[in-house]
Amino acid sequence: MMELKIQLIPTGEIILPPGKNGESYCHNCAKAVVNDGVRAMMESALTARDRVGVQDFVLLENHTSEVAFIENLRKRFKENLIYTYIGSVLVSVNPYKDLEIYTKQHMERYRGVNFYEVSPHIYAISDNAYRSMRTERRDQCILISGESGAGKTEASKKVLQYYAVTCPASGHVETVKDRLLQSNPVLEAFGNAKTLRNDNSSRFGKYMDIQFDFKGAPVGGHIINYLLEKSRVVHQSHGERNFHIFYQLIEGGEEDLLRRLGLERTPQQYQYLVKGQCPKVSSINDRNEWKVVRKALTVIGFSDDEVEELLNIIASVLHLGNVQFGGEDGGNAYITTDTQIKYLARLLNVDGSVLREALTHKKIIAKGEELMSPLNQEQAGAARDALSKAVYGRTFTWLVNKINASLAFKVSLYYHISNMAGSFELQFCINYCNEKLQQLFIELTLKSEQEEYEAEGITWEPVQYFNNKIICDLVEEKFKGIISILDEECLRPGDASDLTFLEKLEKTLGGHAHFVTHKLADGKTRKMMGREDFRMIHYAGEVNYNVNGFLDKNNDLLFRNLKEVMCLSENKILTQCFDREELTDKKRPETAATQFKNSLAKLMEILMSKEPSYVRCIKPNDAKQAGRFDEVLIRHQVKYLGLMENLRVRRAGFAYRRRYEIFLQRYKSLCPDTWPSWDGRLVDGVSTLVKHLGYKPEEYKLGRSKIFIRFPKTLFATEDALETRKHTLATKLQACWKGCRQKAKYRKMKHSAILVQAWWRGILARRQAQRRRQSADVIRRFIKGFIYRHQPRCPENEYFLDYVRFSFLMNLIRNLPKTVLDKSWPTPPPALVEASEHLQRLCMQNMVWKYCKNINSEWKHQLEQKMVASEIFKDKKDNYPQSVSKLFVSTRLNWEDINPKLLQSLGSEKMKYAVPVTKYDRKGYKSRSRQLVLTGDSAFIVEDAKLKQRIDYSSLKGISVSSLSDGMFVLHVTSDDNKQKGDVVLQSDHVIETLTKVVICADKINSVNINPGSIKFSINNGKEGIIDFTAGSELLIAKAKNGHLSVTAPRLNSR
Ligand SMILES: Nc1ncnc2c1ncn2[C@@H]1O[C@H](COP(=O)(O)OP(=O)(O)OP(=O)(O)O)[C@@H](O)[C@H]1O
Ligand SMILES: [Mg+2]
Repeated sequence: MMELKIQLIPTGEIILPPGKNGESYCHNCAKAVVNDGVRAMMESALTARDRVGVQDFVLLENHTSEVAFIENLRKRFKENLIYTYIGSVLVSVNPYKDLEIYTKQHMERYRGVNFYEVSPHIYAISDNAYRSMRTERRDQCILISGESGAGKTEASKKVLQYYAVTCPASGHVETVKDRLLQSNPVLEAFGNAKTLRNDNSSRFGKYMDIQFDFKGAPVGGHIINYLLEKSRVVHQSHGERNFHIFYQLIEGGEEDLLRRLGLERTPQQYQYLVKGQCPKVSSINDRNEWKVVRKALTVIGFSDDEVEELLNIIASVLHLGNVQFGGEDGGNAYITTDTQIKYLARLLNVDGSVLREALTHKKIIAKGEELMSPLNQEQAGAARDALSKAVYGRTFTWLVNKINASLAFKVSLYYHISNMAGSFELQFCINYCNEKLQQLFIELTLKSEQEEYEAEGITWEPVQYFNNKIICDLVEEKFKGIISILDEECLRPGDASDLTFLEKLEKTLGGHAHFVTHKLADGKTRKMMGREDFRMIHYAGEVNYNVNGFLDKNNDLLFRNLKEVMCLSENKILTQCFDREELTDKKRPETAATQFKNSLAKLMEILMSKEPSYVRCIKPNDAKQAGRFDEVLIRHQVKYLGLMENLRVRRAGFAYRRRYEIFLQRYKSLCPDTWPSWDGRLVDGVSTLVKHLGYKPEEYKLGRSKIFIRFPKTLFATEDALETRKHTLATKLQACWKGCRQKAKYRKMKHSAILVQAWWRGILARRQAQRRRQSADVIRRFIKGFIYRHQPRCPENEYFLDYVRFSFLMNLIRNLPKTVLDKSWPTPPPALVEASEHLQRLCMQNMVWKYCKNINSEWKHQLEQKMVASEIFKDKKDNYPQSVSKLFVSTRLNWEDINPKLLQSLGSEKMKYAVPVTKYDRKGYKSRSRQLVLTGDSAFIVEDAKLKQRIDYSSLKGISVSSLSDGMFVLHVTSDDNKQKGDVVLQSDHVIETLTKVVICADKINSVNINPGSIKFSINNGKEGIIDFTAGSELLIAKAKNGHLSVTAPRLNSR
């Protein structure tokens, strides 16, 4: 079993003991993360957090040691880590150099993160306040304090920039953001000045409201200014300057503008600008600043006329400063510088002579009468300076109001930045202010903290802290307080002076634990005090105040006649600054200290209603140098800011507290018993949870409604564990979500598929049904049509008839005869008989036409012969059909069968046909082989080379042939031709061909007789022979008993 231990070493680094495998364990959260295997990430976050020193002083081991405190500050300052926490208070050390920690990326890093999750930063405080405002709906304020040059103004600007960049924006919000940002350069030009401690020291107290709408977008702002250091207008200490705007105007103002204002570009020329003997400073670029300010004025909404009026006033202050007085003999003052008066009269729009008189006289009201009493040289100078201060001071207030008007937007959520400048008109005021802020701090932190422990029933040892109420009372208490006494001295008639004031203080406050004067002090203290000093023991230390000038500064009086002159001014700004009612108002104006007291009380009231965040600024050295860490100076500030006390309370108490429900809600996922929900009492749930997390008993306490955690590191560890757990949970959630989404997607797809299928099936079924319906229709129409088919065309049968026609025609297309010999033809329906016949004819004609077109001469000749044969024998002779398919040839003899002598004998006569034949004697019917040769004129019976008989076609009387299938034929010749021996009886195996050739050669187509029974032929000398034909089973040719030639021929075709 390994022991888990956490050790804090002086540097604040958390050293984690190695685990079994050499890896590190994290304290409390080890249990929660041990199974998750992501320790490395968590530890790197922890070590980064504690890299240099401790980033929260609460983690300092020796928290009571100021040395350790300052050492930690130094260590971090050296590494440019200027921010460190004391709990939720941010300590900031001015780096006096630009650090790369204010980029947009930095802002993003701090946006929406718990401020203890990231390294300390002004952005973390800003973001935390902003988020608290949004989530808890409570007004927030950020109090920035520190001495001059410690970086308060810079810090407030960083806060503003952070909001400008990170807050959501909508519509006109952009202009509000711009105006908020741009109000800074303007206020700084008029309210800041170079001092010995700070080149850009704010010489007024500033409190700024930013108003956010319900979406968290800044929609408005409001600025309250406190006690501008007006004396700076007329006088500056050595090495200091007047307010920036004077120098900026002179250095940067356009020629034209300066001419109008009657100004020269040499600041040395103006009395008010040279008191500190440094009108020009290398570290300040007045010319550039002028451009920035001029632009900012426009952005905020100043018209050109307003800017002109404003600059008229600024210029008149400079002219006023140059007004000089001479002294008459009687001591009365007179003005020696006329040009200045002329300029003043023009710029302020007042009567020059009235102004002249007002500057050298004082109006006295004695016994109800107004008297003008002349002033001496010194008094006139003071009156002039009082006027300058009043004009500048009131103009500054007007400027702030004007900026407020441009930022105005009334909503009810407030967010505050207070920037109480460390230096006011009176040192006394500063310290009073700090005292009040300290009181507020006590109110809001120490006291309320202890009260909370009590309310929650937490046992703890109360921390002794110094309640500075007694000091505040010393200053502000009615009648007895220093301010009351000062006012009384200022107001009472008679010879009141600073010294009578001191005496009065001694009389009233003598014996007060925090007040002492030279007279009242013991010997040791007295050595360190002047006679005109009084000493106050502030919470942060002792301070001596010299009473010289207290009454004057508190009175802050302006002679009545000077006020009257200003009231008469036509300058629009001055008419607002000097209200004419003021002249008739008999009441004395409030003194500066009372004004300050009242406004401070008002501010405290505002701040009390808000949840504060604190930024404590520390200045590292007086030389405005980067990298220099002046320990003495810093120790003083640590003390004066009460940081050690602050830390002590933090350490004594509990660093963090959370309401049970919030704590449980946030961390319940870290314990199996509380996850996903806890049903029992909240306190039991929290107890189970922290036990599971391994909190040690001294680390926490359970109150009535809250858990109190002593050290931030405990919470850090829990936060880290949560961070790790979040990843696991997120992965689970993602997996779950992905699963759900996929399932839903799958279900949807399945559903869609089913729908599509159903639809498609529906469509198919409907189609089929429609087809069936149509088919039934068709069938019905068919049947009806069939029944009425013989009727004339009528609605009942037209479909059927059309169909029959159509199908006949379609059938016809498919079954048209391919050749002329193909006589097939579909049987037409009755209605189409005529058309069918036409078509058939056309088809035949077409085929014939096509056939003829493709026929050659040889074939034509063949066909012509076949045609002749057809005309003669078709349907008349039995063997005709068999001959049709056999082609007729030009000779049936081979060349070797033809005797050459025969050809000689024929001479010029060309042989047209030759065929072997059998010749039967006319007597006895003896058969002999012969050849029948046809020429152009005659037919020859040939035996080898011998022409046995020549028959001229002219003597050919006719040709007889039987109707049977035999090849017998008789050539009848004229008997009067002596050369002839009578008719010739021949037999040819190609009888149809032979006879066709004969009739064509002899041109005797009509001379063929076809005899069914017998043929008679003539033998010369008038005798006749007969050939009888009978049908039998085979061919037989023989002489019959009756002397006839008997021919039996088989039947080839049945008729
Ligand atoms: N965070 C910072 N980063 C860099 N420089 C800084 C920072 N804060 C302050 N400075 C430097 O210190 C100077 C003085 O700071 P700043 O004007 O804010 O002081 P201040 O506290 O407002 O003093 P005062 O009370 O006189 O008005 C700045 O002009 C700037 O040069
Ligand atoms: Mg400042």
